[in-house]
Amino acid sequence: MASSRFFISILALTCFLFTSEAKEILVGGKENSWSIPPSPDFLNLWAEKTRFRIGDSLMFKFDGKTDSVLQVTRDDYNSCNKSKPIKEYKDGNTKIELSRSGPHYFISGADGNCEKGEKLFVVVMSNKFKSFNAPASAPAPAPNQNSAAGDEFKLGFKGVITLLAGFALF
Ligand SMILES: *[C@@H]1O[C@H](CO)[C@@H](O)[C@H](O)[C@H]1NC(C)=O
Repeated sequence: MASSRFFISILALTCFLFTSEAKEILVGGKENSWSIPPSPDFLNLWAEKTRFRIGDSLMFKFDGKTDSVLQVTRDDYNSCNKSKPIKEYKDGNTKIELSRSGPHYFISGADGNCEKGEKLFVVVMSNKFKSFNAPASAPAPAPNQNSAAGDEFKLGFKGVITLLAGFALF
């Protein structure tokens, strides 16, 4: 009994970790957030707290008569340059699927709004475990016990993931 319950727990955990159901994510977390925000960093603070995966969709809700969503390059995002968007969305109920990993940049098409913070960039994870395999780009500090413990923890974590992956395949 105890062991079957254990396996059910493992199975549930595995399902939780491996389910990658595409989500529809409402930009800003509430209706009409695609507008001049209460503070200029509002949308990007929201984006930092949100996980975006390949296949998820961003939902932009706004008044299509006065505003639009422009998907732009990084430079045009930084300078709020609306002249050459990659894509333009005007219908006010805009769904944009995030079909590739990496950064995606959006600015408002309404005059002056981008400058007031109606701009968003999201980073889409390439896969669920990317953060565990981040390249060690920082110069190695002098070895000490803390970093050794950190490595052990990481290996332990990878081990658990591998184990769960094994269960999932099983
Ligand atoms: C905006 O971008 C266009 C084309 O990419 C460029 O010609 C123009 O000078 C830019 N405008 C500003 C204000 O940077």
